[in-house]
This record gives sequence, structure tokens and C-alpha cells, in this order.
Amino acid sequence: MQSPQHRNPSPFSPGDGVIWYGGDYNPDQWEPGVWQEDIGLLNKLGVNTVTLPVFAWARLQPGPDRFDFGWLDQILELLDANEIGVILATPTASQPAWMSAAYPDVLPLDSLGRRRRHGARNNYCPTSPVYLEHAYNLAEAMGNRYADHRRLRLWHVNNEYGPVCYCERCTDGFRAWLAERYGSTERLNEAWGTATWGHTVYDWSEIDLPSRLNVVELAPPGAVTPSASPSQSLDHVRYASWSLLQCFLSEKRALKAAGPSIPVTTNFHGPEQLIDWHEWAPHVDVVSWNSYPTDGAPASRSGLGHDLARATGRQNRFLLMEGAPGPTNWHPVATLKRPGQVRVESYQALARGSGSVLFFQVRQSRAGREVNHSALIPRSGHLDTRMGAELTALGEELRQIRLPLTAAPKRASVGIIFDWDSWRALQVTSGLDQRVHYFGVVADYHRAFFDRNIPVDLIGPGHDLSKYGLVVAPMLYVAGRQTAQRLGDFVKAGGVLVTTVLSGVADENACVHPGGSSEEWREMLGCWIEETDARPADHLNQIKFEDESVSYPSDSLFDVIRPTSARVRATYLEDFYAGAPAITENHHGHGYAFHVGVMSEGATQRLIGEILDRLKIKAPLDAAAPLEAVEWNSPDSSLLFIINHGRDPAAARLPDRFRDLLADREIDGPIMVEGGGVMVLERAIGGRQ
Ligand code: GLA
Ligand code: ZN
Repeated sequence: MQSPQHRNPSPFSPGDGVIWYGGDYNPDQWEPGVWQEDIGLLNKLGVNTVTLPVFAWARLQPGPDRFDFGWLDQILELLDANEIGVILATPTASQPAWMSAAYPDVLPLDSLGRRRRHGARNNYCPTSPVYLEHAYNLAEAMGNRYADHRRLRLWHVNNEYGPVCYCERCTDGFRAWLAERYGSTERLNEAWGTATWGHTVYDWSEIDLPSRLNVVELAPPGAVTPSASPSQSLDHVRYASWSLLQCFLSEKRALKAAGPSIPVTTNFHGPEQLIDWHEWAPHVDVVSWNSYPTDGAPASRSGLGHDLARATGRQNRFLLMEGAPGPTNWHPVATLKRPGQVRVESYQALARGSGSVLFFQVRQSRAGREVNHSALIPRSGHLDTRMGAELTALGEELRQIRLPLTAAPKRASVGIIFDWDSWRALQVTSGLDQRVHYFGVVADYHRAFFDRNIPVDLIGPGHDLSKYGLVVAPMLYVAGRQTAQRLGDFVKAGGVLVTTVLSGVADENACVHPGGSSEEWREMLGCWIEETDARPADHLNQIKFEDESVSYPSDSLFDVIRPTSARVRATYLEDFYAGAPAITENHHGHGYAFHVGVMSEGATQRLIGEILDRLKIKAPLDAAAPLEAVEWNSPDSSLLFIINHGRDPAAARLPDRFRDLLADREIDGPIMVEGGGVMVLERAIGGRQ
């Protein structure tokens, strides 16, 4: 088994630019007799990569001092003999029952303070020394055994990190984390503004976690817990994300000690409020995420996840670790993927930077929670099905494509700030309009660019902004002075910034800046906000740009802006603030900062169009949604991916001569892309780049 003749230092150089095709493989759920059948079907499908054994801790370690790797060795041999690459997962998301029984404090306390019982998954306390030690030992044992395996492509630690625990140890951990962050209780009182409702603390031990025992309202699942203090809630979710990161880093250390050159990832999901991808991404060798678009969701929604994964990752690339090849059982309605849909979703991930098309899972479960989740090998047990044919054709097609090794999606000139702290803080701050969600607002802005085929990076406020011509900061609620300074410097240096209602309001502790925003922020925007109106969504105001006759409806939130140096670009037409500025533009240094004080799709589109023209930022193809077009480049080649998300054929005109890699022919000029069609084009040598 130990044949170290082939190593993969980078997840994107498996040797030949091959796209990883396959998915989560759970052979531990089946009799060995089925394995051989699996392999035959995997070969038929053209699968070259599987991820395993994501949930097999109990099988790998039947008791505290006993490991059983025999069955995994056997599977790996089978995969090796069939030249199938392997992503090896440490199965630490679900500890064995014996561990929970012997060490009950491995089990987390729920937010009502009750110890959970064994079961479920993601059901461990992230600060449990017993859990951490056992997870480390398992990772170490797997590292020592398999780091030199010639089919090993990547380590996959845990799975969709998630548990939040309310035990005394986690509470103490929170206190220690706060002591480290603030230094003294006086500083914490100041930072959190604890005088509100009389929550001053005099000793670290007086601080509790926000839980269901002290919240002012219940949080939706996966969201931050809204305590009396948004600052406390924000710090708690930061701490929870950090404590899970320590679990990841511990296992990563074990794996790197065994084989430093094998890249390590963990699969992100959502995105959700708990795990801040910007915080985690620097710690993984490659960002990977799981994409499960709900039926009918716009193509921009999965595009957003891909753009976030790509921009937070390295080399402008990422891996799609999981997708569904059919119905997703946990969606409210588990709709079939329509003919061609899986292909379209797969090419979208590839176009936006993925090096893989991987699914959950290889063989459809016969037991457990996920029996109604689709798989590459369906319940029928063979591939003589509609999806079997589609997935086999996809595998065959992907095998033909060799992506140039140094190529990656063309660098974006537009950055949209997706800030976890603003998302979390707005969630736990009472008002102004509970139906306005941060994520939705960011997604709307992202979509405005996505639909025009303008490449966008979704970045954190701490990212290097200098490579962008335009930075959009929708509802950047949490913006400390440092953030304001960084954005201000970006504008002064010639950048264009667009920010919106509810931006710049709070400091990094979620307390509101005196003056409504920091001095740096107000100087950059050349205005301040006198009042913000919130009205039911069916209540519309109208806004109009100067010297234009068209008016645009706006709803929900309305800033009444007081310009100091900014120029008024649009005003309200109705209500008692008719005539007041709704959108402003401030010339600041060599650049411009816009404040969009309204929620208006029409006005936003109008403004974005103007700015893109000004900055001469163009799409790679003169076509808009439902056609998606993404350009890749490398020193010596250039690719163009085109995807038609619509049902009807769509026309476009190619800007150059290309070779159609899927149809294997040269094309240029006007093209027609059939409904659900995809094209991967390589610019002809000598063409423009
Ligand atoms: C998640 C998990 C997988 C599986 C899928 C099903 O993404 O990572 O283990 O449960 O959902 O969609
Ligand atoms: Zn705990």
C-alpha cells in the first residue's frame, strides 16, 4: 500500500488538469459483496475521485484502544487497482457511542442547559479534551497509515463543522476568550455597553453564554442567539466559530505531521452565520464547500457560494465537495433535478473556479436519515435510468476536458463585501425591519453583477482591496474605524465604493458609533444620516436621479441623508421627506464613494450600470442572464465557459475565434446556445486575450 511514487502537493495539479468527478463514498454502510459492484459502476460513471469514510469513526475504532483499518485498506486497494483517487476524511463529526457512554462530557449541553444524549451527528462538545484527544489520535493514526498512499489527493477533516455547546467548560472558554480579547472587565463593559439594562460585570465569572435561558427571543436554527446584548451575542458566535476552528487545527496538525505535502480541507456549508469562511479560509489548503441549491433558486444563489469559495480560497480556485445528483432529502420539497440540470449546475461550479464535480453520495442509502437523498448509484442499483445516463455522459464529457494547469477564472475587478459580523450583528439587533435580511441584500447586489456576467469576488472587509476598481459594501453594519479607514484609503487611491442603508453604523463590538457612523466613514461619504424610515414592504416611495425623468420604486428602508460634501444623485419624490437625498456621491481623494440610502432594484441597476461604464468593466460576452459567461486565463491560454440557465435557446456573439472543447470544432461570430446548454471554449491561438 505504501507506494509514494506519486504525490499531489497542490489540489489542482493531480498531474494532468483532470476534473475530479465522484463524491462521498460510504462503503461502511454496505456488505463487502456490494463493493465490487460499486467499483464497476464507478468505472462506468467515469468517477475518478471518492471521499471516504466521512462517518465511519465507530467502524474504524470499535473501542478505546482498538482500531480496525482492515476494511478501509481493502477498499483503498480496490480503488487503487481501479485508479480512482481518494479524498480521505477524518470521520470526527460523529463520535462512537462507546465514547459518549464512557465520557459523557463529550456530549454537548443544549441551549437550555440539558446534556444531549448520544445520537445525531455534530453532537460533541468542541472543547471536550476527551473528544479532542481521540480526534487527534484518530487523525494521527490515519495520517501515519495513509499519508503515502498513492491515490490520496486531499485530507478532508470532519464534516460541516457545527456544534455549539453550552456546558461550563465552553462557558469558561468563552470567558477566557473574552479576557484575552478585552484584557479587563472594565474594557469589556465599555465595549459591550453593559450599562444598558444593568448588565455591568465585575468579574469574568459573571459572564454567561447567550442561551435559551437568557435570550430575549428565540433564534432561528443556525442563527446567532439574540441576548439582551448584541455585543455579547456577536462575541459568542465569534467564540463558537473559533472553538470549532481549534478542533480543525488540532486534526490538521496530526495530518501534517504525518504527511506535510498532502493538502488539507474541511467542507464548508451554507454559508451560515456560525462559520466565518473568511476566518477559516487561511487555515485550509483549499477551500471546499457543499452546494445544495433549492428548486427554483436563481442561478446566482449557487453562483454566490462559488464566488465566495473562490475569493476566499487560494489561486482563485476551490473545490465543490458536495452537490446533489437529484433530490435533496432535507429540502422542504425534494424535487427531482430536471433533465440537464445536474450538468448545468456542474458546469457552473467549474466555470466559477471549482476543480471538481463531487456529489453526496456514491450509493443511495438503504437505511437512516438520508434514504431519500439522491446518489450516483440510485436505489435501483444500476445506471440504466434517466439520471444514470446523464451522470455517465457527464463523467465521459468531463474526462475529455483538460483544464490548463495554470489557468483560473479571470481576476474580478469588483469586490462585494460579505461580512459575517454584519450578518450576525444585524440578526441580533432589534429593528429596523425584521423582514430585511443581510444575506438577502448581499445576494441581491451579487445578482445584479451575476446577471450581467461581471465577475465578482465576495470578500471580507479585511481583504486586500487594491486590486478592485469597484467595491460594494451592502449593509456593512459593523464597520469599526479601521474598516472605515481601509475603505477610505481605497477610495482616496482612486477606487469606487458603493455602500447602502444600514452601513457603517456600528463599531466592531456592535455598538452604534456616536454620530451614527465613525468620523472616517462620514468623511469618506461626505454625508450623514439624519433618520432612517422603515415602512411595510408594500409601501413604496419613488426616487429619481437628477436630470432624469424615470422614477424608481423603493421599499422597506429609507435613509434621509444630510450631505456635507457629497453631491446629491437621487431624491425622494414622496412622503414628508420628498426632495431629500436618497443617493449621494462623494468625490474623495482620487475616487468616489456612493451612499445608496434606499432599497430599490431599479435604482441600483441604474447606478451599477453607470459605474461599470465609467470604470469600463465589461462582461466577457455581450450577453446577460439566463446566459452565464465566465472567462479563465493563464499565461498561455484563455477559456470561456457559457451556460444557458434558461429553457429557450439564447443568442450571443463571440468576441473572437474559439475552439469548442465539447463539440471539438472551431467557432466564432454569432452563436445560439440551446436551453440548458453549456459550452467550454478555448480561445484560438493568436486570438486576443
Ligand atoms: C451535507 C453533509 C452530507 C450529507 C448531505 C446531504 O452537506 O455534509 O454528509 O448529509 O448534506 O445533502
Ligand atoms: Zn461544551
